[in-house]
Amino acid sequence: MRIDILTLFPEMFDSPLSASILKRAQDDGIVDIVLTNIRDFAADSYRKVDDKPYGGGPGMVMMPGPVFDCVEHVRELSLEKGRVILLTPQGRTFTQQKAGRLSKEKRLILIAGRYEGFDERIRIGLGAEQISIGDYVLNGGELAAMVIIDAVVRLLPGALGDEDSSKDDSFSQGLLEYPQYTRPEVFRGMKVPDILLSGDHKKIAQWRQQQALERTQKIRPDLLKDNKE
Ligand SMILES: C[S@@+](CC[C@H](N)C(=O)[O-])C[C@H]1O[C@@H](n2cnc3c(N)ncnc32)[C@H](O)[C@@H]1O
Repeated sequence: MRIDILTLFPEMFDSPLSASILKRAQDDGIVDIVLTNIRDFAADSYRKVDDKPYGGGPGMVMMPGPVFDCVEHVRELSLEKGRVILLTPQGRTFTQQKAGRLSKEKRLILIAGRYEGFDERIRIGLGAEQISIGDYVLNGGELAAMVIIDAVVRLLPGALGDEDSSKDDSFSQGLLEYPQYTRPEVFRGMKVPDILLSGDHKKIAQWRQQQALERTQKIRPDLLKDNKE
C-alpha cells in the first residue's frame, strides 16, 4: 500500500512513523508513506495558505488553491489513482470496519486541515471522502491521519508478527475482546482463571467468547444493538 499525507506540519509524523510496527512495515516494504507539505504549493512568496473567512469571524481558513494544486501534484506521483480522504470533524466517524475496508486499498491520500478548517470549495470540489476520528475537535488533521494509518497498517498482511493477532481484537467481530492474562499466575492476590491454565483449547475458546459477550453487554451494549440493525 502507498499512503500519501498532505499536511502543513510534516515534521509531526517523524516520531510515530519511526517506531515499532509502522517503522517495520515501512522497512519491510509493506507500506510506503509519503509526506507532502501543502505550503510548498502556496502561490506567493510569503507561502500563504490561509486567509480570513468571508463574512467575518475568528481564525483563518485554508485556501483552496494550494490544497487543489497539492492534491493534483500528489495524484501524479503514482499510477495508482488512490482514495482521497479529507480529515474533518464533520466526516463519518472512523471505525474498525472502515479500517478494514481501507486496508484493502492500494493507495490512500489523506489531507490534514489546520486553522478553522477547509474552504468549503475544497470539500465540494475534490469530492473526497470525509472522515472524522471522533466527536471532538483537534487542532489539526495530523493526529487524525496518524490514527487512521496506525489502524489500517496493522491490518495489512505481514504487518503484525502473527496474522491472527488482529482477528480477535475489539470491534473486529462486533465485540470487545475477551480478558487477557500473562505471567505471573497470581499477582497481588489476583489469580489467572483456571480455565486458561487447563490446556483445553475448545473450552478456552468458549470461555473467551462468553467473556467477550458479557464484557460488551456491560460496557458497550450499543455494539450489540448496532449488530442487530
Ligand atoms: C480546528 S479544526 C477545524 C474545525 C472546524 N472549524 C469545524 O468546526 O468543523 C482544524 C482541522 O483539524 C482536523 N480535525 C479536527 N478535528 C478532527 C476530527 N475529529 N477528525 C478528523 N480531523 C479533525 C481537520 O482536518 C480540521 O480541518
